[in-house]
Formats: sequence, structure tokens, C-alpha cells
Amino acid sequence: MPTILFHSPQSDKAWPVELQKALSDHRIATDIDAVDPADVVAAVVWNPPHGRLRGFPNLRLIQVLGAGVDRLLREDSLPDGVPIARLVDPGLTQRMSEYVLMHCLALHRRMPEIQRAHDERQWRYLHPRPPAESSVGILGLGVLGLAAAQALISIGFNVVGWSRSRKSGLAFASFAGESELEEFKRRADILVLLLPLTPLTADFVDARFLATVKHDAALINVGRGALVVEDDLIAALDSGRLRHAVLDVFRTEPLPTEHRFWRHPAITVTPHNSSATNPATAVAQVVDNLRRALAGQRPSNLVDRTIGY
Ligand code: NDP
Ligand code: OXD
Repeated sequence: MPTILFHSPQSDKAWPVELQKALSDHRIATDIDAVDPADVVAAVVWNPPHGRLRGFPNLRLIQVLGAGVDRLLREDSLPDGVPIARLVDPGLTQRMSEYVLMHCLALHRRMPEIQRAHDERQWRYLHPRPPAESSVGILGLGVLGLAAAQALISIGFNVVGWSRSRKSGLAFASFAGESELEEFKRRADILVLLLPLTPLTADFVDARFLATVKHDAALINVGRGALVVEDDLIAALDSGRLRHAVLDVFRTEPLPTEHRFWRHPAITVTPHNSSATNPATAVAQVVDNLRRALAGQRPSNLVDRTIGY
């Protein structure tokens, strides 16, 4: 029977069950060692074991169970020529917008400073200001960046955006490419990293980047840990150039207990849970994509391997 390999130990256990219900003409196999390689026509994966995606001569689609594909693209066993699709999950998008909104509000209302005062039993009155007095700069205007921008605008924040290619018709100012990065940064009080990790974005937030952010800016990283140079971030926080960083993603996950990010008073750590893929909102899309690929049609949300996202 044509087989769809499912490998995502961290995902909701409902995934293979729901896929099997929807694809009764296929076998959903969760044990990579117990399949006949010739039967495997598609793979649905999140962080597959190293070296295990080669050797399936009839593989027609690798469907990633998440939005970011950086880890998969680093996998040296990736078979050439097999299309790779990522997820665009409305549930994941919504949760991410909530997270960005929650932390932008907290930063705008100076909650880290209030929490520090609380810890010292100090009554530190900070006058509440409207969101319109803060500008949020979103780096990455893809599915997640655009949705977060909408959520921020809806409660009154100013938003500016930055991406690789120029956007038109947006309800906020947007900038594109290296040449417009400085102008973008000059306008942002809170920077939100929603870039994919690619060869061009690795170590993107370094000392040079941080040297020209607005004085007293704050940073939220929900993209990937390796977008940020850790030592340079700490230096910017220690010098007061950056007032706070909210970090959801890290070079090493889980973040090791001895890591200095845990103890830094100007860093909030969350355990890569700003958002997640949810079978209830994403199974239909995965099934549709599998059916398309297996019928010889073009799947949705294909990844461009040459640019890395
Ligand atoms: P998209 O592919 O839809 O959007 C990526 C955006 O980044 C695009 O606007 C793209 O520009 C821009 N971009 C890429 N490279 C560059 C560059 N070199 N310079 C400037 N802009 C660039 O991705 P999503 O919005 O769906 O997701 C973004 C990332 O969020 C994921 O790759 C993943 O790493 C992370 N993520 C984190 C989660 C978490 O739980 N923390 C959950 C889900 C995703 P252009 O529009 O011109 O192509
Ligand atoms: C993703 C993630 O990329 O959860 O989907 O980080």
C-alpha cells in the first residue's frame, strides 16, 4: 500500500490518527524502520532523524509540520528534486499574533520595569500611554509578520515593516532590503524578529545592527535563535542601548539551565511556545497538499531551497 511516513515525536498525538482517517487509501507509518522504502510516497515531518530522508525512490513530497524549514534544509540527506512544503496554519498564525501583541503591550506599558520594582517592593508609578506612542518594527513581512502587524494596528500601535522584497498596498510603512534597513530601524521602538533563518539572516542581529537601533528600543525574537549574536545582545542590554529582550527561540533548545539569558534582568525567556502547529486547524491543509502532490499537481506553500525559506 502507498505509505506516508510520519515523523514528529514532539507533535500532538492526534496527527497520525487524523491523517489516517482522511487518507484511508494510504498507510500512515510512524516507524521509519518498519517501512518498505519503495512504498513511501510522501513524508510528513518535523525534525526528522539525521540521514533518514534518503533512500525512498518514490518520494513525491516532504511536508514540514511547521512554518520554519531551516533545520530541515540543513539536513544533508535531503533528496534532490523532491518538493518541500511548509505549513501555513491559521491557528499557528493566530497564536503568534497574540504572543507578539501581548509582549508589545507589556513592553510598551513597561511591565519589565514594573516587575523589577515589584521584586524590590517599590511603588513605581509609570503613567500609561496609548499604543500610538510606540512604533513596532516587524522584520519579516510574511504570513506571520503581516498577521502580527494587523493585530498591532487594530489596537492602535504604529507599525513599520521590513522585508527582502518590496511590498505594496499595506496599511503601514514598509521598507525593503539592506539599503532601507537603517531608515526602518530609526522608526522602531520595539523590534520584532519574524525572519526565517537562512544563510542571509544568520547572525543578523549583531553589534553592528544593534549600534543603530533607537535608543531604549526593545527586541522580541520569535524567528530563530541563530538570528541573534548572543554576546552582542547581552552587550547592548548591559550598555542600556536596548532596554529589554523577549526571547522565545534559542541556538540551543531547551535553553541550558546554566545559560546567562535565564539570569539577565533585562531578558524574558519563553520556551519556544509563542505558537505551535495545531492539528485541528492544519490537518485539512496537509491532506490537501498530500493529495495534490500524489496526483501530480503543484502543492501549496512550497519552499524555495535556493533562498532557504
Ligand atoms: P514567511 O516565509 O511567510 O515570511 C518570511 C519573511 O521574511 C518574508 O517577508 C521575507 O521577505 C522575509 N525575509 C526572508 N529573508 C529575508 C532577508 N534576507 N531580508 C529581509 N527579509 C527577509 O515566513 P513566516 O512568516 O511563516 O515565518 C517566519 C519565521 O517564523 C519562520 O521561518 C520560523 O523561523 C519562525 N516561526 C517561529 C515560531 C515559534 O514558535 N517561535 C512558529 C512559527 C514560525 P519577502 O516577503 O520579501 O520574501
Ligand atoms: C515553526 C515553529 O517553525 O514552531 O513552526 O518554530
